[in-house]
Amino acid sequence: MTTKIAPSILSADFSVMGETVKKLEKSGADLIHCDVMDGSFVEPITFGGQMVKNIRPLTKLTLDAHLMVEHPKTQIKFFAEAGADIITVHYKACRKISETYLEETLRLIKSYGVKCGAVVNPDVPVENIFPVFPLCDMVVLMSVFPGYGGQKFIPEVFEKIKTARAYAVSIGRADMDIEIDGGVTEENAAEIRAAGANVLVAGSAVFKSSDMAATVSRLKNN
Ligand code: DX5
Ligand code: ZN
Repeated sequence: MTTKIAPSILSADFSVMGETVKKLEKSGADLIHCDVMDGSFVEPITFGGQMVKNIRPLTKLTLDAHLMVEHPKTQIKFFAEAGADIITVHYKACRKISETYLEETLRLIKSYGVKCGAVVNPDVPVENIFPVFPLCDMVVLMSVFPGYGGQKFIPEVFEKIKTARAYAVSIGRADMDIEIDGGVTEENAAEIRAAGANVLVAGSAVFKSSDMAATVSRLKNN
């Protein structure tokens, strides 16, 4: 599978976001990962649907909205109408509300014609989201606890990637996108890809780099 790189604008300078999006287009990145934080599911607050709406006309790259929010269903409309290509929601946030909330939210996202995905934190077994795999276009394995960029990759996630890929294959979804979010670097990217992930989020790795295009290329091929 070809690897796709999803730079996270969480690590970007919000005052020059338009310029940054244009640079990302030229860097060889495939998605733009938009980290949405509500100050409750995670401590910080970042931005809402307005950010996606404003950057949408500037790029053809896939806009990947990662909703770290307590009540994801209430936000779907805003992100779908803003032009997100894929919206992912947290198992943990949904499970707190009800047993069926995750599936309902994924179906709601799809009803807008937008791709959907489920996210698990590092301490949640990937098996917990097996029941919704058939509904998902992408599954996201957090390799740090959500909330902040620049954290260290949690190595236990390698096994989870293998488990997720094997399960996707077993249900006839060998091509499913498996995204890894948190602590991806030029040093660990090869091992993450070898384990079976094909979408790598990279915040600090891309934004701290003096040559974004070279970094994106090394994350794909090193
Ligand atoms: C963490 C976010 C990540 C983060 C990744 O809550 O979901 O997307 O920005 O940043 P790095 O690559 O610096 O770990
Ligand atoms: Zn993220």
